[in-house]
Amino acid sequence: MKLLAIETSCDETAVCILEANLENSATEGSAASFTVLGNKLLSQIDIHREYGGVYPMVAKREHAKHLLSLTYKALNDASLLDEEVQTLSPKMYMDVADLLVREEGMATELLTLAETLNPPDIDAIAVTAGPGLEPALWVGVNFAKALALLWNKPIVSVNHMEGHICAALAKIESSFTQENGTTAQELSIPKIELPLLSLLISGGHTELVVSRAWGEFELIGATRDDAVGEAFDKVARMLGLPYPGGPEVSKLAELARELGLSEESPLPRPMIHEQHCDFSFSGLKTSVLYRVKDLELTEEKKQSIAREFEDAAADVLYAKTKRAIEETGAMTVALGGGVSANTHIKRVFAKRLAEDFPDITLAIPAPILTTDNAIMIGLAGFYHAERSDFTDPDVLRADGNRKLAPK
Ligand code: KG4
Ligand code: ZN
Repeated sequence: MKLLAIETSCDETAVCILEANLENSATEGSAASFTVLGNKLLSQIDIHREYGGVYPMVAKREHAKHLLSLTYKALNDASLLDEEVQTLSPKMYMDVADLLVREEGMATELLTLAETLNPPDIDAIAVTAGPGLEPALWVGVNFAKALALLWNKPIVSVNHMEGHICAALAKIESSFTQENGTTAQELSIPKIELPLLSLLISGGHTELVVSRAWGEFELIGATRDDAVGEAFDKVARMLGLPYPGGPEVSKLAELARELGLSEESPLPRPMIHEQHCDFSFSGLKTSVLYRVKDLELTEEKKQSIAREFEDAAADVLYAKTKRAIEETGAMTVALGGGVSANTHIKRVFAKRLAEDFPDITLAIPAPILTTDNAIMIGLAGFYHAERSDFTDPDVLRADGNRKLAPK
């Protein structure tokens, strides 16, 4: 099966073409192999850095500006562009123009392209429908609807967090040069030993989700205030570091460890001993605020605060995950979302899990799959497409608060 996958939930515009093959039946398990035939990603980070954060309307504008050309390039890399003059019906022109009425210039560009191409040899279009920034999500969703209409393909509506889970479970096997000279990657997802516990940590999420059956999700813990990535970003701002703050805080913290710098008094580990799997990061963030207030922030001080903050965040994340493993009997633990790029958090999980639960498999995303990308949307979308779990384009909506699982 070949899928075109689209991701526009936040500040990355991403498109990929994924060829996928199931090794069992999708209802029985996860084992599948994948070839990434084309993959294009454009990060808006340089634009958002100037504003110190992601503005949804700026993100939306940038997605609309680039999505079509990235799609064209991904299809080209996958050798799926088949040029032939097309006659589109007047209704098609009207419907596509209607769908893309809010995406400036996109309808004209897309229709002009569609007049010259045969529908590509893909089986379905997978698109992130949430959670994320709603105006940004809508660009991808409306574009997917327009493609589905033009090319008569079904749509898979993908939950972004399910994408992060699949990214953690995927292994990059190898890469090879295609006939047209572009590089393709081979990926696989093994058969996952259940229950699977996923710790989803990003700018908008801090959640523990258990899958007792493949493709089913139950929320067993979530942040009651800030997401951990948000706390990283806010602490970064307090320390005078640029956006996005997570990697910057992490760099300083690693430096502090190398130099042996540490804080004299610890920061709090909120809710660490409470008898549930929920999180809270706003108290930790506020403690950093009090600590830096009225202080001359030397480089050393910044480094030691960053270290203590990161230690506190990692301790809480691990303690709650440990509790969740004990509650669920999880055999696989997956870390997903942007914060799972954090070196210290990865190290803490690898070390403590091996000590506390030597039989558990830890799945961490490869660096290129850690931050938002379209491959993960294709991976998650594939399992839905396999089950013919398609969404009627007429009812498909972007949903900024879409949940993976009800509480
Ligand atoms: O999943 P993601 O790319 O986008 C969202 O869906 O939110 O996650 C972005 C978040 C940001 O808060 C960013 O600061 C954080 O992930 N992040 C990190 C690191 N890399 C990214 N946080 C801590 N350490 C990192 N190395
Ligand atoms: Zn994400």
